[in-house]
Order: sequence, then C-alpha cells, then structure tokens
Amino acid sequence: MSEQVPLHPLEPLRPDEISRASRILRESERIGDGARFCWMALHEPEKEALAAFESRGAAVDRQARIMVFDREGEGSLDAIVSLSGGKVLSCTRAPDGHVALSFADMIRVIQLVKADPAWQAAIRRRGIEDLDSVQVDPWVTGGFEPEERRGARMMRALSYRRDFAADNGYAHPIEGVVALVDLSADEVVEVLDHGVTPFPPGHGNYAAEDVDGFRKDLRPLEITQPEGPSFDVLGNEIRWQKWRFRTSLHPVHGLVLHTVSYRDGDRERRILHRAALAEMVVPYGDPGPMHYWKSVFDAGEMGIGQFTNSLVLGCDCLGEIRYFDVSLCGPQGDPFTISKGICLHEEDFGILWKHTDLASRSTQVRRSRRLVVSAIHTVGNYDYGFFWYFYQDGTLQMEVKLTGILQTSAVAPGEQPPCAPLVAPQLAAPVHQHLFNVRLDFDLDGRKNSVYEVDAVRLPDPENPAGNAFAARATLLGREREARRDIDPSASRYWKIVNPEVSNATGQPVGYKLVPGNAPTLLAHPDSKVARRAAFATHNLWVTAYDPSQLSAAGDFPNQHPGGAGLPEYSAADRPLENTDVVVWYSFGVTHIPVPEHWPVMPVEYAGFTLHPAGFFDRNPALDVAPSSACHSPESD
Ligand code: NI
Repeated sequence: MSEQVPLHPLEPLRPDEISRASRILRESERIGDGARFCWMALHEPEKEALAAFESRGAAVDRQARIMVFDREGEGSLDAIVSLSGGKVLSCTRAPDGHVALSFADMIRVIQLVKADPAWQAAIRRRGIEDLDSVQVDPWVTGGFEPEERRGARMMRALSYRRDFAADNGYAHPIEGVVALVDLSADEVVEVLDHGVTPFPPGHGNYAAEDVDGFRKDLRPLEITQPEGPSFDVLGNEIRWQKWRFRTSLHPVHGLVLHTVSYRDGDRERRILHRAALAEMVVPYGDPGPMHYWKSVFDAGEMGIGQFTNSLVLGCDCLGEIRYFDVSLCGPQGDPFTISKGICLHEEDFGILWKHTDLASRSTQVRRSRRLVVSAIHTVGNYDYGFFWYFYQDGTLQMEVKLTGILQTSAVAPGEQPPCAPLVAPQLAAPVHQHLFNVRLDFDLDGRKNSVYEVDAVRLPDPENPAGNAFAARATLLGREREARRDIDPSASRYWKIVNPEVSNATGQPVGYKLVPGNAPTLLAHPDSKVARRAAFATHNLWVTAYDPSQLSAAGDFPNQHPGGAGLPEYSAADRPLENTDVVVWYSFGVTHIPVPEHWPVMPVEYAGFTLHPAGFFDRNPALDVAPSSACHSPESD
C-alpha cells in the first residue's frame, strides 16, 4: 500500500469537507434552518503554520470560512469552522454591510418581483402580456437604501423584454421600471415607474443562427504538442520551467495564485505568497433614475467565483489543456462542482530575445513560451476572464479580458443622452468604469520587503550641463498613509518591491517591479457614495503591512456598506512599511465609453499589469532556453 500523503494545507476544500463544514456549523445551532450559505472557502493557514508544514511536515488544521445570510436569525454571519477539530471557532455578525449574494438570494428577488401586482401592472402598461417571459435582473443597491430599512438586506431589480427564450433582453430594456426588494422582510418594498419609453426597434442577437453568413476565408490553425505539455501538476501545485506555484478558485477573489517561486540555480526563490483579485467595482456614470445607484462590487457583493464558466476545449482554450474542477458551496451548504473551471496551458509568445551580430553575421534567437492560468466568470450582462501569464524570463503578467453585453437604456427617437452614448437606434449604453484591485502579497526572497516608487526625472542644472541627463529617482514608501499612489505615465513611473537584506551581483537589493498599464481611477465625485464605498479605486497603488485577515480591498462586507472599509481602514493605522512583511494592492481597469461596435456583444477589451524582475536575477535568466528545434537556417529554406 502506498503511504498516505497528507493534503497540502493550501489545497482547496474538497466536496466532502464542504459538506462536513456545513454540518458542523448547522449542528452548532448558530444559524437557523432557513439560513442561506453565501460562500465557503478554505480559511488559509497563516504563514508560520505553512512554513512549519513545508519544513518539517507539521500538521495544519484544515479550516473553512463560511459566510451565511440568516434572515430569521442574526442576518449576515462570518464563521470559521475547524474541520480537524469538528467545531466552530468563531461566528460573528457583520458589523456593517452584508455578505455577498447567493444564487438563492437572486432567485428569490426574481420570484418576489414577478409576483408583485405593481410590477405586473407596470409591465402590462408596456404592452407585455406574457409576464413569465420577462427577464428580471437582480441588482445590488449601491448604498442607496431607504433609511427606514437600515440593516435589512436590500436589492433592486430591472426588467427586460424577451421575445423568445434565448432572445437578448438587453436589446429591449423595460425603461422606467425599478423594483426595490427587502430580502430580510422577504417582500417587495416598492416598484417605481418613471414613465413609458418605447422599445428600441432592433434586436441584439448574436448567436451563430442570427448572423447572416460567416466569412469563409479562414483556414484551420492547429496547436499540436505531440509529446504533451511541459508542465507537471500534482494536486493544485503546478511546475513549469522554473516556476512553481499553486492555484485555486475562491468564491470572492476568483483565481488565486499561492506560493509563487522561481528556481534560480539550486535556489528555490519565493516571489509571492498570494496573488488574487481583492475587489472590483463597476460604477455607472449616468445620473438618471435607472442608473445613478449602480455600482456593483462583482467580487465582494456578487461572489464572482460562483459564476465561473465550465470551459470548453477548442472554444475557450486551444491546445493541450489541463483543466481543474472547482468545488464551491451552494445555498443549502451542499457542495457543487464546476467542471473545468480553471484552464492551464502553454502558448507560443513570439520571440523571447534576439540579436544579430552584423560583423560575424551570426544570429541568436529564442522563442518565448508562456504558461497561462485562467478562469472566466459571467456576472449578469458582463463576462470577465482573468488570465495570469508566467514567462521564462521571470516576468509575471495579469490580464483581465472584458467582454459580454453592455448595460442598456431605451431612449426616445432623436434623443442623445449626454452620459449614455447611442449604440443602436433608440438604444443607449451608460458610460461606466470597470475598476479592479489585485492584492499582491510579496515575499521576495523572504517575508521582509520594502516598496519604492521610481520615477524617471531630468537632473537639475548643475548636474545637467547639456540638458540631456535624466535618472531613475526611487522614493521609499515608508508608511501606509504615504503609500497611496497614482500612476504617472510621463515619468514612466513604476513601483519596485525589494528585499533590502538580499543583494544581487551588483550589490543592489533584489527586486521586482510592478509596471502599470493605462490605469484609470474612480471618476465619481469624492463625496459620492461610491467613492466612499470603493475607496480602493481612488488610488492606483496602496501598500499595507501584512495582516492575514486583510484580503479584500473594500472589506469583507461591501454589500450595502456605507464606506470606509478595506484599504482606507487598513492603512489608517499608518504602520511602517520598511523592511517588513508588505502587501501591495494595485487598482487598474478601464473607463468604458460605449460605441456601436460594442453592441450586441463586446469584442474583448484588456486591462492588467506586469511584474518584471528588476535586479532579482544577476543577468537575463532565460539564456538557457534552447534554440527552437523548428528553427530553419536561412540556407535550408
Ligand atoms: Ni464596460
């Protein structure tokens, strides 16, 4: 018999552990029979416990974190359950705000709205008789809840006409009708009708059968790896080239990278302890009654992980793919599995490096291969793909792919709303932003790191007689309050994370730099509700001292939270950041001004950032990549 290998402490919860954790919480009688499980995930062990496991196999308690909405009990609850000990370690009520929505919450909103006589009358006023066919989209309330319902779990709902089951309802928004629902009281509070606007004349269907013929000039492109892919997978650990890391999918943070390291000679060098989405928000910029309250936190309010797609070979992913199934917790506390929720594959990525020596006419060129870990989530009308790329030269890249369908609004013929460009006749799409925050827990060659802001600056006069001189100026971000920073493209600004106690061959501390892309910050007024609630999006970079309980950029309960939680709260303590365990939080995204080409389904738009080694290695670490066997010499062609 083979020896039982202990489960690695960072392996995600298995279905049987999800069932057991639910049972332990229910049997503790801390929650009522009607409580809905909103999400459950591995409560990750602290760094010391992990290090003890890795160095000497010390046992680590398997723990589950469970978020529950108990309508008849205490409301939103946050529990930690020990699976090893079979007991509830803590169960606390959300001090402000609510836990993320569950499928059950969303289905209940649809049921309540459809049964409401005022909603039915408003729909009939628009000439729709078949109420069953109407699409009802549940929405979070964006902090706009009536004072008399304070503390209750509130939602709004918008409606769309569908002419057949698979019709794109966003082509026929039922303009003017907004329902407000109280899930704590299990009732519709009110249905507002701001007046009838005629439906836009067109349809918005984009399926194969809706398209008038396909282009015919595309010949097959096939990716073959006759000897299989170059990565190894054991549980959720992945080894590829010199990279080694773990991945998992969290119900709120989506795709997570754990314990990312790169083998440099005989040294296994840690780069990141954990990297994942820490929050995201989609604030809308239209002041109208259908839109002013819209600002969805797809991570902390919606639980983006529960909307993970099952990926399809040849469609979502091309080549030799390794998929990972994802097990999550359903509303009753039962596990459910999303098959093929995470995709792992390799891609050719053009050239890695090249030089032609003109004197000797010799050329050296290497092809770049990258490893891709990805997951795609559909949250209402939008689809978000999260892609991490690992490169052979030590570069790591994070890319979000935004696609799906725009939020829409019906407008009267001839009308051109200032904050909602027309994307089709009588169909407008409100301007909005998609702002993401990714939490990067660096452990660069050890836990104690520092962060510098680096700007390229022209040297002042006495040192710059010819006027050409410039240099990189590095400024230590020494405390949390001064580590709230923004991009500056004209200064080629980047942020460099270093380990001040480990030097490279030049005597400089080893480092990695975070290179921002075009990264907007929040456009909403600083006094607006969304600016207080999504403060993480008001700056591009935040650095905090490590605290294992601080994983979410807007706090653990952003749903209906009045604001101030998350990064503003974490960094208010103004803890020192030099040569200590630091966490880097980076906000980026896109400001979306819709155009007709985004309708009826949006071609992918990209946002993201890269992490480049910056003195982490002593020289180009990819010299040892062999020349491609497919490389023909010019003479052989
Ligand atoms: Ni958009």
